[in-house]
Amino acid sequence: MTKALEDYLEEVHVLILQKGKARVRDVAHDLNVKMPSVVKALAELKKLGLVNQEPYGDIELTAKGRRIAASVLGRHTLLKAFLMKLNVPEEQADNDACLMEHILSATTLDRIRDFVEGGGARAKEKSDKNKETK
Ligand code: FE2
Repeated sequence: MTKALEDYLEEVHVLILQKGKARVRDVAHDLNVKMPSVVKALAELKKLGLVNQEPYGDIELTAKGRRIAASVLGRHTLLKAFLMKLNVPEEQADNDACLMEHILSATTLDRIRDFVEGGGARAKEKSDKNKETK
């Protein structure tokens, strides 16, 4: 899935969490895109079996769509927390997290999670352990 589609999926998930429903106009507003772009992205997400939408109805996530959206949002939240630990201002951290969430490897995300959760101590422990076993 492309970065753009992941962002649409994530936004639908966030709107459902925050407002209980996701409408095309709210997605367009929050992502700062035009409504036809949202409609086009939704058609692709529908083809992938990730969203459902009755004509003119609210956007709904399928179980698979929800699983993927939650994973993207989880990465977003983690990366934002990481950047804020580095004293990046919140808005910048939010924007950059939304770019990084699509490209970092699972290994790097794993190390970042250790760093954020353990304040760096656990990540260091792990790398020391790796060195020992080499
Ligand atoms: Fe994001």
